[in-house]
Amino acid sequence: MNKRTNGLAWLATALLVTTGGCSALPDSDAKSPAGDGGDRPGHAVPHTADPASVVGLRIVRDGSEDSDCRWATSYPAVPGADPLSAALKADIDNRMGTSSDGTTDAAGAGCVPVNISYDLLVASGDVVGVRLSTLDYGAAGDGTGTRAYWYDGKTGKTRKPTALIDEDSFDAFVDALKDGLKGREGVSTSDLDSTFEDYPDTLDDFFFTDNGDLVAEFDRGQVGVPTGGRQQAVIPAEEATSLLSDFGRRVQRQTTDPSGELALGVDPEPLPLPKAPPPADSDVDCAQAKCVALTFDDGPGPDTARLLDTLSAGDAHATFFVVGQNAAAHPDLLRAMADAGHEIGNHSWNHADLTQPDVSVSDQISRTNAAIKAATGAGPTLMRPPYGALNDQVKKAAGLPIVLWNVDTLDWKNRDSAKVADAALGAVEAGDIVLMHDIHATSVDAVPSILNTLTSQGFHFVTVSRLLADRKLTPGTTYTSR
Ligand code: NI
Repeated sequence: MNKRTNGLAWLATALLVTTGGCSALPDSDAKSPAGDGGDRPGHAVPHTADPASVVGLRIVRDGSEDSDCRWATSYPAVPGADPLSAALKADIDNRMGTSSDGTTDAAGAGCVPVNISYDLLVASGDVVGVRLSTLDYGAAGDGTGTRAYWYDGKTGKTRKPTALIDEDSFDAFVDALKDGLKGREGVSTSDLDSTFEDYPDTLDDFFFTDNGDLVAEFDRGQVGVPTGGRQQAVIPAEEATSLLSDFGRRVQRQTTDPSGELALGVDPEPLPLPKAPPPADSDVDCAQAKCVALTFDDGPGPDTARLLDTLSAGDAHATFFVVGQNAAAHPDLLRAMADAGHEIGNHSWNHADLTQPDVSVSDQISRTNAAIKAATGAGPTLMRPPYGALNDQVKKAAGLPIVLWNVDTLDWKNRDSAKVADAALGAVEAGDIVLMHDIHATSVDAVPSILNTLTSQGFHFVTVSRLLADRKLTPGTTYTSR
């Protein structure tokens, strides 16, 4: 019912407008909606690139585990596209109220309870596209906000989505959007005229679908009244081509027919892999021996290989609760973990607070399970919800035993390796599960001291499953120590 044609003769039948989640996707040779919309049939879905194909890609992740203010942010830093990384960082800093000295005022009055996540839209030839999605837990009905950023390797510049459109075609493009949006629920013509006056900031999210259709997407309330929901305008590929700038055409081409590799004039270093041999096999019986389970959340990241080397050197096994997005970007690191006998658990797709109404628990869990399985050949046997945040619905949907912790190093707050080591060493007793985060270099730096001291006290470092080997773990049940 939301499928509409616009009134411009040259675009007749070309422009279709959809609302989030419920109308037909244009598809020139099929009657049914395009199939890759997942659980949102008819909702135009962006083409995405495989982050694992980008050599040297670093996922920059940060967050607060403060129970009074939970937030998590992440963006991809593509080698050779530093201006793009800077723009993504600036966007996030701006949203988080981070001052120029890098400190975040995220506690108390300055709390910004959001999840900022990304999709890598395109990364081939000389173009890169990244879409940031902000889920604001505190917003009254605003839901998710999205922005796309495009990078042109030919000029070395970050481009706004509007740069995809040819300047001479822009008036026609905007008229077409307005025309297509007319008559939508909660949208009046005067709304549209004021909304699109002076090419506003709301034109901040354009992307292409797998078959090259151009999509402009609007956050709830950006077009018409908020109850109308998110809005999409979809321009089929061929018509879109006629509106695109030279840059836009290159992006469209890399979407439908990627050249396969990114050529940004740099020779990127791949993220390091561990060099040390795996730790010796441990069949220690934790009913008899002093055992502790170190757990590392939110990675893998740039410091994870170093951590794996440290663990090997200390004959230590550990458990990694990985974020699916990071796992998908670094399957080689997951394989290294599994090969070394470490355990891999599910820590959601993008570190969303699973207890929030706008978060799909099953989607967060299943996408991450799939990424772990794709990397290692085996799915995870444990999960840990981000922030340890649980309710009955999360327990039901988890599908795996839920592992929390009983020793918190507060390493996300104390970015100081001595403090992190002291927090662990001051608290650990046999049978404990210790919480740390391998996305922070300071946490990884604390591990040698923790291993040395506890080894001298007779501790064995085991996976969570080994620690709890004599208990039958059941899905949806929580475990915090032996
Ligand atoms: Ni976490």
